[in-house]
Amino acid sequence: MKKKLTFLGIETSCDETAASVVRENLNNTADVLSNVVSSQIKEHKEFGGVVPELAARAHVENIDFIIQEALAKSKLKISEIDGIAATAGPGLIVCLTVGFNIGKSLAEFSGKPFLSINHLEGHALSPSIENKISFPYLLLLVSGGHSQFIVVKSLGDYKQIGTTIDDAVGEAFDKTAKILNLGYPGGPEVEKFAKLGNKDSFKLPEPIINRAGCHLSLAGLKTAVLRESKKISTKQERYDLAASFQKTINKILRKKTSVAMSEFLKYTSNNTSKTFVVAGGVAANETIRKNLINLSNEMEFQPIFPSKEYCSDNAAMIAWAGIQRFKKKLFDEKSEIVKSRWPLDSSAPFLKGPGLKL
Ligand code: KG4
Ligand code: ZN
Repeated sequence: MKKKLTFLGIETSCDETAASVVRENLNNTADVLSNVVSSQIKEHKEFGGVVPELAARAHVENIDFIIQEALAKSKLKISEIDGIAATAGPGLIVCLTVGFNIGKSLAEFSGKPFLSINHLEGHALSPSIENKISFPYLLLLVSGGHSQFIVVKSLGDYKQIGTTIDDAVGEAFDKTAKILNLGYPGGPEVEKFAKLGNKDSFKLPEPIINRAGCHLSLAGLKTAVLRESKKISTKQERYDLAASFQKTINKILRKKTSVAMSEFLKYTSNNTSKTFVVAGGVAANETIRKNLINLSNEMEFQPIFPSKEYCSDNAAMIAWAGIQRFKKKLFDEKSEIVKSRWPLDSSAPFLKGPGLKL
């Protein structure tokens, strides 16, 4: 019988210190033997956002224990692992360096192959940990730093068809939470307090909703939240504004996803199965899930969302990407460095900054 590969994954690109042991399954999905995540919420709470130096220090303090815990929970020794995969970008260089260096040293010390993994590829492949998915599929990647529509043609072959020209969706949630003083981390707090509010109370802008294909723009929405926040005084009004913000994001995502689905069909043949995958931290949002599941049903796409533990940053998705790259020999152990910027589609135009014409 063919040996099933088992990898240790390490993730330290931002504010989660994570390690995981993952074993491939024979049906192209994975068994997650352990998935340990240490979140740094208390380190960054008082600043309302991630402070890179504090994050790096917390990674240094925690990473050994987290890796040991991941191995202990998997009941495997490092000698029983087939390879080590660590996030090499994009992310904060001071943070990436911690997980990358320890992964590389462990690999050298134990004589195992070492793979550097693109964090975005980890998110892109995360839905196939639990679901058998065949290429190509349409991916909406919505996290704190990225918001992109990607045609995932095969492992390592990505066509970006839409991106945000300013703020990422998670960033818009985080900034809204900060403006409304709802707590940190922002996304889950906005979702929680929006449940207490009336989503029809505020009419907020929907920037470029009817133009620029499936590109997104959210900076104007955030500015409008800031402007409205100055006119209100009660707790209830803050919840109403949070609910209206979330409703507007949902409206924008629904419209842009429908455009992306139509574009996806242009890139694929008639007999391709229509699969729509949503990944990244924002994919945990229940209202966004419901909204995009409804749209998928209307557009006859099969929607796939990872379980919440694989939506936010985790190392299982990094180990899983490592296994897949190792099997296809799509890695180079020698020329590896960490990178703050590392797009999935290197040919996609960089759509940020003033003076953009869409
Ligand atoms: O993928 P992720 O864990 O880290 C990055 O790679 O950025 O995504 C984190 C982002 C944060 O902006 C967070 O506020 C957002 O995902 N997020 C949410 C929810 N849970 C996390 N946004 C909206 N609703 C949620 N329930
Ligand atoms: Zn992420």
